[in-house]
Amino acid sequence: MTDHPWWETAVIYQIYPRSFQDTSGNGVGDLAGVIERLDYLSSTLGVDAIWISPFYPSPMKDFGYDVSDYCDVDPMFGDLATFDHLLAEAHRRDLKVIIDWVPNHTSDQHPWFLESRSSRSNPKRDWYVWRDGITDGSPPNNWAAAFGGGAWEWDETTGQYYLHSFVVEQADLNWRNPEVEEAMLDTLRFWLDRGVDGFRIDVAHLIMKDPELRDNPVVAELNDDFPLAAYATQRHIHDRGHPDVHEAFRKVRAVLDSYQPPRYSVGEIHEYDWPTWASYYGEDLDGLHMPFNFAMLRAPWTARHIRRVVETVEEVVPPGGWPNYVLGNHDEIRVATRLGENQTRIAALLLLTLRGTPTLYNGDEIGLVQADIPPELQQDPWGRNVPGMGRDGGRTPMQWTDAEGAGFTQPGVSPWLPTSADASTRNVATQLKSPDSLLSLYRRLLAIRRQEPALRLGAYQSLEAGRDAFAYLRDDGRSPVAVALNFTGDVQPAGSIAASGAGRVLVSSGLDREGRVVLGELELGPHEGVVVKLDR
Ligand code: NOJ
Repeated sequence: MTDHPWWETAVIYQIYPRSFQDTSGNGVGDLAGVIERLDYLSSTLGVDAIWISPFYPSPMKDFGYDVSDYCDVDPMFGDLATFDHLLAEAHRRDLKVIIDWVPNHTSDQHPWFLESRSSRSNPKRDWYVWRDGITDGSPPNNWAAAFGGGAWEWDETTGQYYLHSFVVEQADLNWRNPEVEEAMLDTLRFWLDRGVDGFRIDVAHLIMKDPELRDNPVVAELNDDFPLAAYATQRHIHDRGHPDVHEAFRKVRAVLDSYQPPRYSVGEIHEYDWPTWASYYGEDLDGLHMPFNFAMLRAPWTARHIRRVVETVEEVVPPGGWPNYVLGNHDEIRVATRLGENQTRIAALLLLTLRGTPTLYNGDEIGLVQADIPPELQQDPWGRNVPGMGRDGGRTPMQWTDAEGAGFTQPGVSPWLPTSADASTRNVATQLKSPDSLLSLYRRLLAIRRQEPALRLGAYQSLEAGRDAFAYLRDDGRSPVAVALNFTGDVQPAGSIAASGAGRVLVSSGLDREGRVVLGELELGPHEGVVVKLDR
């Protein structure tokens, strides 16, 4: 039990730094703000690691995912000294720090790209993906950009197209060029030498494309009513996930493993065929430590579907590999909006009691809802290109207090995105005072996960339960814990959890069921979930 690396026992908390805490008074969060909130994270909430979304210098065409220098901090967020201070302060509290690494593309303002586009003979020309148009002058193939339009941009000066899988200002690097690979591995070393504990790797599956750049098969006609337009009409088999990607991540892993203690990697992998997804662990577990598991964001929220996700994960994660679960992030609709208030509590119980590393998105612990951002205030390039696809509603500022500015920024300052309309009632300070709040539930769950080895490391076993309930056992061989979750508003028998006898309630979703329960007699109330420590 003791030889598990920290990333298998940790709960990771994602910070979207623009929206977490503004200390400079410009309406945008910053690294000093993260430092200010470290006590909240480590003591009040009780997470073990933070992942900070990009804070690199950037023209902010995709809010930091367009990096113009991999080895610095954007002045908007602070500087390297602030980052070093953050790292020291986090480590002093036993919090690990994971940073975002964006290897697929740079900003078009990155010096590498400025050189690359300056002439066809520039030594960095081949650092990006440049191609001639086909004979009639149209783009080299049919690939589409994820955020709307085609994936190729014509460059007048040098008379070729360059590839951009996202916005025009995010040029794809050519990972088939060994110099690119080495330069990018050096950017990892830069942060590893400063002491970071790991990386979240942006669109990790995209870095290797078909070397022949063949067209993707088209599976549906373009449809004006379909918001994703060209991108959604293709099967993305050639613009991502070429098998060579695994060799690239073996090299990334070798860099991480060359440090003491070894460092962590989690890849953003949007692959929904399970064996393909699992292949990112590497054939000999020499790939990424974990591919993010987004299945719960896509599965219908029913006991049956969620159980199937968990059982599949248990099956496909290779022996020696470790599962993980995600309920939300800065690209998704807020979990509280997707599931509603009651089931958001069930989701919290689920996330923190499964076998696998949970990643929790800032604000989800207080149930921030998807905000409705009026068109004139929208910022996300995706939403501007493709109406309806904007991600701003899930990126609104953290709500700390009921003050004007929600404690995120000073009164009188306009935050970069408006705070959600419910800021005066839904905020950390208010929820800390209420034992029934979602935040209190999260705190309780995080505490019992720390306290119960079975929840962190115990084996997983599904249990029979009522039709719309999902129940399972976490067993470390010493002190097993049973979990039963009602996915509906109807009363459910907890089912043959009965076989496991009786125990003591550690936490219930309503935080109101207490004491001993005989599992065979247990009926779950509407939207009720319980975590029970079994007698042994
Ligand atoms: C995935 C990131 O999570 C998203 O926010 C970003 O827009 C794209 N990758 C492009 O970097």
